Amino acid sequence: MNVLFVASEMAPFAKTGGLADVLAALPAYLHRAGHDARVVLPLYDTVDTNKATFQAIMDFEVALGAHRYACKIFRVGAAPPVYFVHCPALYGRGRLYTSEPDEHRRFLALSFAALMICQRLDFAPDIIHCHDWQASLLPMIVKTLVAKDPRFARTRSLLTIHNLMYQGSFPVEIGPDTNLGAVSHLFHQDLMKAGRVNFLLQGILYADGVSTVSPTYAREIQGEKLGGGLDGFLRARSATVVGILNGVDYDEWSPETDKHIPHTYSAQNLAGKERDKQHLLTSLGLPYVPGVPVLGIVSRLVSQKGFKLLDPVMFELLRKHGFQLVVLGSGEPALEAMFSQLQRQFPRQVCFYEGFKNDLAHMIEAGADMFVMPSIYEPCGLNQLYSLRYGTVPIVHRTGGLADTVKQWNPRTGNGTGFAFDHHDGAGLRWAIEAALTAYRDPKQWNRLIQNGMAEDFSWNAQGKLYELVYSKLANAGRH
Ligand code: ADP
Ligand code: GLC
Repeated sequence: MNVLFVASEMAPFAKTGGLADVLAALPAYLHRAGHDARVVLPLYDTVDTNKATFQAIMDFEVALGAHRYACKIFRVGAAPPVYFVHCPALYGRGRLYTSEPDEHRRFLALSFAALMICQRLDFAPDIIHCHDWQASLLPMIVKTLVAKDPRFARTRSLLTIHNLMYQGSFPVEIGPDTNLGAVSHLFHQDLMKAGRVNFLLQGILYADGVSTVSPTYAREIQGEKLGGGLDGFLRARSATVVGILNGVDYDEWSPETDKHIPHTYSAQNLAGKERDKQHLLTSLGLPYVPGVPVLGIVSRLVSQKGFKLLDPVMFELLRKHGFQLVVLGSGEPALEAMFSQLQRQFPRQVCFYEGFKNDLAHMIEAGADMFVMPSIYEPCGLNQLYSLRYGTVPIVHRTGGLADTVKQWNPRTGNGTGFAFDHHDGAGLRWAIEAALTAYRDPKQWNRLIQNGMAEDFSWNAQGKLYELVYSKLANAGRH
């Protein structure tokens, strides 16, 4: 099959979160499975163009209403090829996302450029796989503006929602920029009357298939609590809403081969893990004391991730139990301030590294004993999957993909891979951390827990097949 991916992130070129990891792995899996998968990405000014060979292959102009953008397309690699849209007027902002008044045009241009690349290369996609709101108008565009182009006659669209809370909601005045004025009746009319256009909603209405990144989140977003106001529309299409868990790229994330950690190790021989722990602590200026557990956090510091719960629970637990805490992340000032304060209060126990640092993320996965993810909601979550692989026991809130991937430890049966609390409150978090600390004190139990986690398999070989199934179902069915 010919599959065109349109997305705003892809590792290692442009990454703020897990979307980038998925884009780095799923097209590559499809390529190995014999499909012609291709990716279209913005060439942000933050992309390190020394990482690969960028070959200029075409120029064109993208028109969005009255706005004209000169675009140059660069191709990187062949297996699968990535087409970068170079347009400094749109992507020269020093970061991936903005809240500037042309934000909608930055990703509309990407969407139209993707179709123009197909036309120029005479590439007829069977599937356009759209990711998040940034690519959510494509299903509509394919069914209207390019409907007569034979290259798109067979094209079906799949919208994958990586996070329902980012919807791309804009004032109705941006309408002309979508080039969809002639079919404006296809926009949600009540919302338009209320003065808004919601890109993700349009994708949910017009994509041939809709998916999200875990089975539990697929159910949760069809309910009011986590439905972000779109649950009714998702319920209306529930027959096509599927949840496919993200896979892990074990070439990138395996303690046996990880290039970012000083000591590799395996389930059979964990000696390297203890040395990685020592290295992690000393490189961050914390004392290493054998037997003292280290908790790790690597995250965007946004409210979704639930770190508010740590205040004041973490303070109490650090004082009572004397463990150590290593945090890597950046985001909302209030959350950064909370971690900075913990670091000041416990200078020998806590290190907060503010920023985005891939090699440190790997070192924390390897060097920590436990990994904390108290997310309020979590569409999939990748760090708990990485943690399992690194023998770092996850402590999570039982929601979304965390509920689907972390099995509660049962000391009587010896089953389970981590600790999951049900109620998102301080008592829940305290219970889970203290249960983990209790298990840690019993080396036999702890080793069993680690072994259980390391034996889990979340590779793309299994998850990629599920996408192939969805693609072929869509390709063989009529258009929605
Ligand atoms: P989300 O996509 O919501 O941020 P995920 O758990 O799916 O959550 O993916 C997060 C990804 O981003 C992981 O690969 C994680 O290691 C990485 N990451 C998050 N914050 C940082 C950071 N500060 N430095 C390095 N990597 C980070
Ligand atoms: C989003 C979600 C995260 C998911 C990632 C990749 O950023 O917040 O849970 O793992 O997308 O699908």
